[in-house]
Amino acid sequence: MPRDGYLYTREVHGLEPGARARVRGWVYRYRDLGSKVFIVLRDPEGILQLVASAEYSPREVLEEARRADIEASIVAEGVVARDPRAPGGVELRLEKLRVVGESRDFPIKGGEGIDYLLDNRHLWIRSRKLTQVWRIRHTVLRAFREYFESRGFWEVSPPILTQAAVEGGATLFKVDFFGDVAYLSQSAQLYLEALIFSLERVWALSPSFRAERSRTRRHLYEYWHLEAEEAWAHMEDEMRTVEELVAYATKRVLDERLEELEQLRQKPERLEPAKKTPYPRITYEEAIERLRKKGFDISYGDDLGADEERALGEDYETPFFITHFPLRIKAFYMKEDPQDPEKALAFDLLVPGVGEIVGGSEREDDYEKLVQHIKMHNLDPRDYEWYLDLRRYGSVPHSGFGLGVERYIMWIAGLDHIRDAIPFPRFRDRLYP
Ligand code: 4AD
Ligand code: MG
Repeated sequence: MPRDGYLYTREVHGLEPGARARVRGWVYRYRDLGSKVFIVLRDPEGILQLVASAEYSPREVLEEARRADIEASIVAEGVVARDPRAPGGVELRLEKLRVVGESRDFPIKGGEGIDYLLDNRHLWIRSRKLTQVWRIRHTVLRAFREYFESRGFWEVSPPILTQAAVEGGATLFKVDFFGDVAYLSQSAQLYLEALIFSLERVWALSPSFRAERSRTRRHLYEYWHLEAEEAWAHMEDEMRTVEELVAYATKRVLDERLEELEQLRQKPERLEPAKKTPYPRITYEEAIERLRKKGFDISYGDDLGADEERALGEDYETPFFITHFPLRIKAFYMKEDPQDPEKALAFDLLVPGVGEIVGGSEREDDYEKLVQHIKMHNLDPRDYEWYLDLRRYGSVPHSGFGLGVERYIMWIAGLDHIRDAIPFPRFRDRLYP
């Protein structure tokens, strides 16, 4: 991309002393010592110290430097010099400087509380920490796409306005649809299932919405959902797709975003083991037993909550699967295990520290069983007429999964809270900004 002769700060760090360079960006730090003004410039690639000095800068450059408050946008030109006190050991001694957009009294000065920062999210997203996350997120999304492309999946575009629940009525967001009720999609799954009859293997990245009552550090109301569906695939096939996808994206981040991980104080060694598949597998039953040994008051048929998932994660260094959940506690579309009709051919992928990042299953492909399961979940088969057609006309064994993109990013970037995995998080009772 031509940049009109401007270099990124990263490129300037690679130049020899005496070289000339033009840069542009925003003022990250500012210090006025009278005869010298130090400006640390921030751009998408990093930071660079600029110095305006009575010694070598024209007088108007020093004057202009005094207008360059925190977060003002500036363009500058100067000569590269080494100085061990500068970040990265390099500085630019200014010959030209222009403030393009002033910034008087930038509202974020450091040390503010979380509510204040969230109210100013549109400004906070400029922070160096969050910038590293956006860069990692970019690589993650590209890696997901690359993986599906390399495996011959078709990318498709499901709707967001829907008529019925996929993942239970309790977390549906209602929308007024010309006097009728519509819902924001919880999952594209049912639509992806419809598309495998022509394309066999499909995937989509789309927003999903969950009106989760629980306020946790891993729940958003609106998140990005990476979903795939494969005709002719059984549960084990699908688990292989999931682990290869996750291992591939993890490898990509380790190959391309080491500096960003370092900035976030993340050790690559934590992620290295996840490059290798297969990932460990335990059954739901084994998980319950293990939790009871760890002192949890839990019995067969109970859901695994955040605490349980965290405790199980302590035993692993890599992502791991939990399989064969009781049919009753899982979604209506999951296939009954032919070996044990109490169980579903369902799996979750969990990662240490975060818990569930993927939910998937083989789908019930038998018409009668599906109707029976819809009723067992207190849903109305009439709401799923079109979905039942998929079992009437050329039903086929198939499986699929959904991965929470922000959950994955939370894990890979080592974030304490899911809100920092997405620029404008929707969580708690706020929509601003
Ligand atoms: O386990 P879930 O509910 O599964 C489904 O929606 C399936 N229909 C997907 C499919 O098979 N096509 O959600 C899938 C993943 C979870 O594992 C989690 O990572 C993420 O979506 N997720 C959330 N992420 C952030 N905030 C929330 N409120 C989330 N709810 C689910
Ligand atoms: Mg789930």
